[in-house]
Amino acid sequence: MKKGLFSKLVATFAVIIAVSFIITAAFLSYWFESYYFEQRKGQLETESQFISTAAEQYLQGNVSPDKINETLTYIGNYLSTYIWLVDNYGYVYAVSDSEHKALIGTQIITKELEELRLGHTVEKREVYQNIFKGPVHTFEIPIFSKGIFKGSMLLHTSISELREPLKRVYEIIWMSAILAIVVSCVVIYYLSQRIIIKPLEQINYVADKISKGEVDKRVSIESKDEIGTLARSFNSMADSLEAVEKNRREFISNVSHEIRSPITSIKGFIGGILDGVIPKEKENYYLSVTYGEIQRLTRLVNDLLDLSAIEAGQFRLRIEELDINEIIRLSVIKFETKIREKGLKVDVLMQDDELYVAADKDRITQVVTNLIDNAIKYVGEGGTVRISTKTKGDKALVSVFNDGPSISKEDLKHIWDRFYKADKSRTTKLSTGLGLSIVRSILTQLGEDVWIENKEPQGVKFVFTLKRI
Ligand SMILES: Nc1ncnc2c1ncn2[C@@H]1O[C@H](COP(=O)(O)OP(=O)(O)O)[C@@H](O)[C@H]1O
Ligand SMILES: [Mg+2]
Repeated sequence: MKKGLFSKLVATFAVIIAVSFIITAAFLSYWFESYYFEQRKGQLETESQFISTAAEQYLQGNVSPDKINETLTYIGNYLSTYIWLVDNYGYVYAVSDSEHKALIGTQIITKELEELRLGHTVEKREVYQNIFKGPVHTFEIPIFSKGIFKGSMLLHTSISELREPLKRVYEIIWMSAILAIVVSCVVIYYLSQRIIIKPLEQINYVADKISKGEVDKRVSIESKDEIGTLARSFNSMADSLEAVEKNRREFISNVSHEIRSPITSIKGFIGGILDGVIPKEKENYYLSVTYGEIQRLTRLVNDLLDLSAIEAGQFRLRIEELDINEIIRLSVIKFETKIREKGLKVDVLMQDDELYVAADKDRITQVVTNLIDNAIKYVGEGGTVRISTKTKGDKALVSVFNDGPSISKEDLKHIWDRFYKADKSRTTKLSTGLGLSIVRSILTQLGEDVWIENKEPQGVKFVFTLKRI
């Protein structure tokens, strides 16, 4: 990963830098060349005065041909240029370089004569085969004597010679481009290491650890940029993973614990009967105790299966129109024996005979049964249980109240948790601690609310909502 990201970054930057340097260099050299030629032109035009004077002298017959050639050679060397003088018909009559002597007497220009006659300087690039090695830059400057056109001078400078000083400039430009690329690679390397690559490696490392089960590992990146945000999201994801993992461990230990105690007692009693430790006449009693434990196990397993099915969303809810008052009445009847045994006073208070709601009948029966079961289980002997329904807007409120000690703040926090039992000593035989979890899961799936209220002077009330039709 390290190499990939780094080389991509470097390649991108190098390309950007190279392209910008090429563009800059192209502009610079274009500008430089024109500037340079302009300068050259200025210089040659100034110096052309001397040549003009020399030419005039010659044309007036004051100077010998050798002398004029000599003068031209001198000036030509000084300006590092080749000078040819032509008359008003374009015929060469003097040259600065002895190699070009053969040209004397030949007509070298025709076309430009018009321009020159008008006093304009002509500038051109030309390739004179067999005379110059490469292309030359030529200025043709007219010569006037007392206002009369007397021909022209041709000043040739070899282009490669002209470019010589420019070469140095190009070298500097390209050297600095390469230097800039190298420096920026180094800078990019350090920055990308610090800002991107190291943090990503850390996240990767921690992700790997977490996937191997070390869910308590976290990344420590504090930066305020996108990588920092990623690190924080990653950590909060790890938090929830850890919570899930903790939950799972607790669940397994709870289930094992719940199952172990009935199994231990079943094993003990049946073992006792088999080895004859338990006397024959007591066998029936212990078998019925064992039977009770098996029932408890069955209830536990059924509750667990229900809960996991509800939580996994495997129960397809069959929403129908049902009379909640009728469901409550039927549920109360199921508890008749228990109510009588405990000598309870049970009130059922309803606004109307019928109250129609939209819900799943089996699931709602389960909710009502669980809540009434709790009320009866946790109310004292001869206590009061009150079940009521009323309407509030488009909701029906169902409440199950029982008198008895109120539930402590600490218990209120955990009462909906799986396997949570407030009074651990008293309730173990009869309870699994799953009833309220099931109640809440069902109501959550139906999109309804459930809550608990402690009542004055004493008593506990569970309330849940349903949607009215
Ligand atoms: N009506 C109630 N009055 C007092 N405590 C209650 C009542 N209902 C539930 N609780 C407390 O909440 C705990 C969890 O209830 P629940 O999930 O139904 O499990 P279980 O009924 O198997 O104990 C109970 O163990 C009990 O301590
Ligand atoms: Mg219960």
